[in-house]
Amino acid sequence: MRIKSLFLCIPLAYIAHGCLESEHEIEIHQDINETETPVDSLEYLEDLGEKLFFEPMLSLDQSVHCASCHIPEHAFADTVPFSLGVDGKLGKRNTPSAMNLSGRTELFYDGRATSLEDQVHFPVEDALEMNVKMHVVVERLKNTPRYVKWFDSFFEDGITENNIASAIAEYERTLETGNAKIDQVARGEAQFTESELRGQTLFNDPKNKCFDCHAGVDFTNDEYRNIGLYDGIDKNDLGRFNVTQDSADIGKFRVPVLRNVALTAPYMHDGSFQTLLEVVDYYSNPYDVVPSPINMDSLMIEPLDLSDQDKIDLVNFLKTLTDEQFLD
Ligand code: HEC
Ligand code: HEC
Repeated sequence: MRIKSLFLCIPLAYIAHGCLESEHEIEIHQDINETETPVDSLEYLEDLGEKLFFEPMLSLDQSVHCASCHIPEHAFADTVPFSLGVDGKLGKRNTPSAMNLSGRTELFYDGRATSLEDQVHFPVEDALEMNVKMHVVVERLKNTPRYVKWFDSFFEDGITENNIASAIAEYERTLETGNAKIDQVARGEAQFTESELRGQTLFNDPKNKCFDCHAGVDFTNDEYRNIGLYDGIDKNDLGRFNVTQDSADIGKFRVPVLRNVALTAPYMHDGSFQTLLEVVDYYSNPYDVVPSPINMDSLMIEPLDLSDQDKIDLVNFLKTLTDEQFLD
């Protein structure tokens, strides 16, 4: 994966002044090798997107930026069940990782955004998140000489809502992780421990069904499924139904990416599980947590009744999806 430092000064092909310095310096991982990467137009756009991702001007009172909730050290997720937006307003869903999304065709737990570009205006304009109109953000950036310079160097039409979204989306596409232990094992460069191996077998076992939903390179089939976290009593988020108004979609959420899942606690759309063991406990017997789920997926109906060892093994397997390189 590639995350460039905010402090990295790269000779830019498109402008003479070269260095995108930030007033709001937030140190994230600097990969020295990055300085040797040939600079091309896409890289320039990614850099600009990174600035915007860490730019508080994208919030009403300039107190919150994207990374306030999508924290780099936590695989660009948050550590609390619900994040705080401007004025300390509490959100309604857990902040998911903003990594490994380049393969997704729809975003959010309910799929209401259709691309990374389309997604950007949602948090900016959300009253509980950044709470500012996109046209106001455009005006603010237009009044900030360094942004005028950076945008004009790349885009013929300078600072626009679409160009802001393009830059942020392009930055997000750099946040891909492909060097977790599981990848190293697949390439023959590392070996699973016995517990991790048993966990992988359990995960892929048709009896446990994890792989039916968490399939593919990012461990999601990108479908909307109801794993039983809706009962109309304490668990009230209708999920995908909010977008489609189809009663078949009540309580369905997009199957999340599991890469780096060990870093993104708490879990689920409502952040109700603190640890991976709690998640696996839930899959073992969902009815212990939600006795009367509504519209639960047929795959979930029969409890798995996993042994304590099975649970530990599954958790150890899930931990092999963490890209250690990214933590350096
Ligand atoms: C106040 C906290 C907060 C801020 C600030 C915030 N987000 Fe989010 N983000 C969330 C939450 C919560 C969700 C999930 C909402 C949902 O699914 O309904 C989310 C979802 C996302 C997703 C979709 C992830 C997925 O798996 O579908 C992306 C991408 C994203 N945010 C990017 C951004 C960008 C870019 C910014 C800045 C412009 C930003 N976020 C600002 C809390 C925040
Ligand atoms: C029927 C499809 C389905 C099956 C089967 C399934 N999952 Fe999930 N999984 C989901 C969905 C949907 C969510 C998100 C639910 C939510 O946010 O409320 C999820 C969430 C998770 C999460 C939390 C991710 C996060 O970032 O919050 C983990 C971990 C997980 N599943 C692991 C597993 C394991 C291990 C198994 C097998 C024991 C499994 N899943 C079986 C669909 C499934």
